[in-house]
Amino acid sequence: MIQKINSFEEYQSEYAKSVANPEEFWAEHAQTFQWKKQWDKTLEWNFEEPKIEWFKGGKLNITENCLDRHLEERGDKTAILWEPNDPSESAIHITYKELHERVCQFANVLKNNGGKKGDRICLYMPMVPELAIAVLACARIGAIHSVVFAGFSAKALADRINDAKCNILLTSDGGFRGAKTINLKSIADEALENCSSIQKSIVLKRINSEVTMKEGRDVWLHDELAKVDVNCKAEEMDAEDPLFILYTSGSTGQPKGVQHTIGGYMVYTEYSFRNVFQYEENDVYWCTADIGWVTGHSYIVYGPLLAGATTVMFEGVPTYPDAGRFWEVVEKHKINAFYTAPTAIRALQACDIGFVNKYDLSSLKVLGSVGEPINVEAWEWYNKHIGKNNCPIVDTWWQTETGGIMISPLAGITPLKPTYATLPLPGIQPCLVDADGNETEGNDVVGNLCIKFPWPSMLRTLWGDHERCRQTYFATYSGKYFTGDGCKRDENGMYRITGRVDDVINVSGHRMGTAEVENAINEHEAVIESAIVGYPHDIKGQGIYAYCIMETGKAVDDKTRTEILAKVTDIIGPIAKPDKIQFVSGLPKTRSGKIMRRILRKIAEGDTSNLGDTSTLLDPSVVEEIKIGAL
Ligand code: WT7
Repeated sequence: MIQKINSFEEYQSEYAKSVANPEEFWAEHAQTFQWKKQWDKTLEWNFEEPKIEWFKGGKLNITENCLDRHLEERGDKTAILWEPNDPSESAIHITYKELHERVCQFANVLKNNGGKKGDRICLYMPMVPELAIAVLACARIGAIHSVVFAGFSAKALADRINDAKCNILLTSDGGFRGAKTINLKSIADEALENCSSIQKSIVLKRINSEVTMKEGRDVWLHDELAKVDVNCKAEEMDAEDPLFILYTSGSTGQPKGVQHTIGGYMVYTEYSFRNVFQYEENDVYWCTADIGWVTGHSYIVYGPLLAGATTVMFEGVPTYPDAGRFWEVVEKHKINAFYTAPTAIRALQACDIGFVNKYDLSSLKVLGSVGEPINVEAWEWYNKHIGKNNCPIVDTWWQTETGGIMISPLAGITPLKPTYATLPLPGIQPCLVDADGNETEGNDVVGNLCIKFPWPSMLRTLWGDHERCRQTYFATYSGKYFTGDGCKRDENGMYRITGRVDDVINVSGHRMGTAEVENAINEHEAVIESAIVGYPHDIKGQGIYAYCIMETGKAVDDKTRTEILAKVTDIIGPIAKPDKIQFVSGLPKTRSGKIMRRILRKIAEGDTSNLGDTSTLLDPSVVEEIKIGAL
């Protein structure tokens, strides 16, 4: 088991060690896991191709490290504690022993349905224990999981299935989210009309809705489980074999399939989980994310289970049945570590404080934040009302591509500073670069955030498009991984992430490409062109502001707005719906035809006092019109 850092001095010495000799540092931690065969070389890398290989030649199965190796010592300990959407339904405690059996059983179902090593298996499921079990079952047989968040539309699901050529889809009749039920099976059916690679769809019964089962393709999970036993040998995998693909948005219209491999991801997720949250053996840990996002992969499933922790999985939403739900669950399960997103904090902060004060939150020891910069008001509210000024808040900066937490306090060990992600974890070498790509040394500086040395859980490629991986992350600044984030390093060397510097926006912690949303809007028959920008939003962090040029003669009214929103819901999902739509006759473009988003961002922010230099615009008068019509 990985040993955690116990003091600030130890953090400093571990950090120094990790920079002076990264290979020795990580090899030592990797030694604590169960390998079927020792690796040949700890690290092989260059950021030009890029090529990154950790623990190559090492043979293992990550599920033996998440499950089998815990059985002797903590077989009867709760591994997954599931809290349902409806508080009157019972919570479910799954021990390590039971989880091991259920993962093996599910793995046998996959095998019976044609699943094998190297296959891509798509998961489109609600937040129920079967989702975590299915993820691990894929890993057990060496198949690559591709979890698609259950809020995505049929079209978005189909695109992701087709990109990875998945042969099996795991889904459910539906899911509960707050007062709503979502008919996942019918969305999946629509998607599968356009997915020729899918041979089998295995369906969980969760909401008991009427569904159509396609003969020869669709089978019920409960029928399949009845046919198999609970023993399944773990497939022997190479450390550098892919573990999963997870799609995320970039600055073009096409989502990217970020690919992670087994060995490095395993070592880093347990290392970061233990250290950041300072997990202790009997703690109950709750991360409120969805397994459809990387936070759920790394810090609901893999990190905690590797550490032998009790990880809580929550099916519902923070405001159902009322705004006290999170705190009710904290009291009910005596949560010790609680990890959520700033958008949830802000939404709850806006509700009556009675919803918080009704509950006993004294079990809490550590609070966490992830997904977007946390504003100082939200930080202070979280600290005072939830932590009672007694729980360190770990503001964890990382990305789908980084696989694990990169810059963050270690709870109670390293110093805090509100709105700052603070210091890099051992093994992580951040740097700031200026517009010319030169590294900015020293403190009290700003720049674009890069990482200059590989770490075990970094992405290896984008599925099917290594060149795009090189271009996006390794070509902007030669020899460095570019994060896409702007950043400040204060006088004490603490890091504060200031937000994206590319055409990516962050809405309620969900990452969205402006081009992706524009493409969806442009599908509306009367839209000629559109431009999307983010603007400050009280709850969501950033809201989506859409400028649309419509065909002349077409009515531009609320009906058109509703239709545009429906298009976006159809093509991406409700999370990408614009908050504001302004109809315009033109967009501010340079003579070369490039939209000047800087101007559109300023107008969307409501700051039109100084729009900067507009002299290079093709038609400066359009700016005046847009200013007048601003919402
Ligand atoms: C982007 C990555 C990491 C899991 C969830 C999001 C922003 C993330 C923070 C933070 C400021 C943050 C960055 C980053 N971000 N955490 N603590 N402080 N910004 O993963 O969808 O891959 O998005 O989220 O802009 O690049 P993601």
